[in-house]
Amino acid sequence: MSEDSDQLRYEISDIVYGTWRILDDKEKPSATALAERLNVCLENCIDTIDTAEIYGLYSVEEAIGEALKADPKLKDQLRIITKGGIDVPSGEKTGVSLPHYNATSENLVACVEKSLNLMNIESIDLFLVHRPDWLTPPEDTAAGLDCLLAQGKVKAVGVSNYTYHQFETLDQLMDGRLSTNQVEFGPLEMAPLYDGVFDQCLRKRIRPMAWSPLAGGRLFSENNEAGMSVCLKLMELSPKYGNASVGALVYAWILSVPSNPVVILGTNKIDRIRDVSKAPEIRLDREDWYAVWEAAQGESVP
Ligand SMILES: NC(=O)c1ccc[n+]([C@@H]2O[C@H](COP(=O)([O-])OP(=O)(O)OC[C@H]3O[C@@H](n4cnc5c(N)ncnc54)[C@H](OP(=O)(O)O)[C@@H]3O)[C@@H](O)[C@H]2O)c1
Repeated sequence: MSEDSDQLRYEISDIVYGTWRILDDKEKPSATALAERLNVCLENCIDTIDTAEIYGLYSVEEAIGEALKADPKLKDQLRIITKGGIDVPSGEKTGVSLPHYNATSENLVACVEKSLNLMNIESIDLFLVHRPDWLTPPEDTAAGLDCLLAQGKVKAVGVSNYTYHQFETLDQLMDGRLSTNQVEFGPLEMAPLYDGVFDQCLRKRIRPMAWSPLAGGRLFSENNEAGMSVCLKLMELSPKYGNASVGALVYAWILSVPSNPVVILGTNKIDRIRDVSKAPEIRLDREDWYAVWEAAQGESVP
């Protein structure tokens, strides 16, 4: 298959619901409340959720499984992305005494088995190696991902937080192909614009995914100068874009980049899920996109 074949593109909604923080609120959502939240996602064109073995210190996947049990039709409607390969000391990981990465074939296959069991699903739509593991030969990681694809336990595979070269090396060693690189990106973290990661995705015709688009909420912190500057600029622009919220304008700003990164939404608020559904329709003017870049950098383009 040629590198620029359209068949390599993993189709995914522009906005994906991130589940990292879903158990963080003082009052944890019940399975029914979580199922209702996932239904709100579906009603708002968000058909995919992003999770990981480690989220909630290994408890989020189980909570998703309970929500899918509370509303079984969700299983057919939602697509699930999960990740594996981070081991930290916890009751779940006996024998682990120090946080570390493990992207060995054996561990990735075990992670997927566990995720399938916890969420009670037959296959994972997209499985990602959560972080590059400097100690595992990429041939071993590649063998694990190919094995999962061949067994049909995952429909597609990818990586997260990989550099340009780490991605290239792993991709070339696989029989299958990597479908995405999930990296941090937003007005307060623009590294993928400069380090070649987004250009690599363009060349390979795959969509990157942008995690922590609002810098984990720091964008709204009064102590964050760049964040405040970006917020003020977006509030100024809002009337021009139908009074869109700062969040929706940030997502539109991310989606404007030619590699068209998928935005991973990270809220526990139903209203904020509803609010962002219009973001993919917003077309930011060139100068407005650069005005946000300028607000974040504190200077105009060189
Ligand atoms: N691959 C990786 O290594 C990696 C790393 C981190 C995250 N992720 C993925 O990316 C997803 C999103 O990351 P994230 O949660 O950091 O996303 P984010 O959107 O950057 O930050 C979400 C945080 O911002 C807050 N927030 C949103 N709108 C706000 C507003 N208008 N005013 C004040 N606070 C606001 C949210 O609070 P409310 O709940 O109150 O809205 C939440 O605490 C995660 O769920 C996970 O799936 C992946």
